[in-house]
Amino acid sequence: MDSIPDINNINDTYQQALGELSNNKSEQDLSLWRTKYLGRKGILTGLLRNLKETPIDSRREIGQQLNNIKNLLEKNYEDAVNAAGELVNKNSNVHNVDITMPGRPIQNGRLHPTTQMIREICEAFLSMGFDIAEGPEVEWEYYNFDALNIPSDHPARDMWDTLWLESDKQEKGNILLRTHTSPMQARIMENREPPVRVVVPGKVFRYEASDATHEWHFYQVEGLAVDQGLTFADLKGTLFEFAKRIFGENRKIRFRCDYFPFVEPGVDMSIDCFACSDSGSISTENCSICKRTGWIEIMGAGMVHPRVLEQAGYDPEKYTGFAFGLGPERIAMLKYGIDDIRHFYSNDIRFLNQF
Ligand code: FA5
Repeated sequence: MDSIPDINNINDTYQQALGELSNNKSEQDLSLWRTKYLGRKGILTGLLRNLKETPIDSRREIGQQLNNIKNLLEKNYEDAVNAAGELVNKNSNVHNVDITMPGRPIQNGRLHPTTQMIREICEAFLSMGFDIAEGPEVEWEYYNFDALNIPSDHPARDMWDTLWLESDKQEKGNILLRTHTSPMQARIMENREPPVRVVVPGKVFRYEASDATHEWHFYQVEGLAVDQGLTFADLKGTLFEFAKRIFGENRKIRFRCDYFPFVEPGVDMSIDCFACSDSGSISTENCSICKRTGWIEIMGAGMVHPRVLEQAGYDPEKYTGFAFGLGPERIAMLKYGIDDIRHFYSNDIRFLNQF
């Protein structure tokens, strides 16, 4: 049974409520306090309900007093709730930052495996006195073919399935995406006097379907050396040194005749298989890297054809030279045991992260 409000018990209730409010700091305790004093069955609500029992002459004054107190307690309660909320926020902010936790690792970018391989290849030739040049990917028919002893009616044009570009310009034949880096042989000789020692890394394009060992766009590194008295022995010595630097000191090399219209004689160069020659565990008969032959083909090469020298303005009676062209993706595949060339340009981060 709620008591009948009078001035004394109103003041006592008020003081008691304030005292308890100041001791309650958690949101849960504050909620209990509210129920106790201001809830539907709360002490203050009970006093208000019993207001009708007070003598008529003091009812008005006591009623006003009760309402004042109720408003004051409501206000104090809201302030206390806000203060408790701020405290919770403040504490939780502090707890969100745990300075002892290890930081999230930053994903570093890196050079693409082809770029890394090209740099390694170029480094090897730079240290042998070559310099580096680059040329256009969109090329004139003349440099891609004619200047390389491949006139338009020559069947050797079929060796390079070509992506032709439509153009009204016909300065040096039609325009195409270069099928190899060899056009740079002619461009360099047109612009420099011997001696020339240069490597040309760059992208090439072929109109062919991709498979595990062929891409329709890939890179090549071209090499050209022209001077008085250069012989096939210089070609062999240079490429042997290159093979040892990339694939290890123990490499053997093998040259076999091959045909490229811009060199004479032309060769393909192979290295002995580093997988089965170096290891006692894999026998050549079971080696998939060299396809059970013991040898791996790595590039085309040869002595620059006298007609190519002549067409570029060099006297073939005075100068001789050698040239070579290799595919860095294929070299990387051999070196790192990559089974499919299409991995290089499919942008799978799991593959790229391994280099
Ligand atoms: C040539 O392109 C000649 N220009 C190379 C050359 C230069 C010979 C100078 C003589 C003197 P070939 O088409 O074989 O040759 O290509 C040379 C290298 O490019 C190959 O050994 C191979 O490593 C790479 N290659 C060729 N076709 C592809 C392809 N579809 N995908 C990836 N790499 C390729």
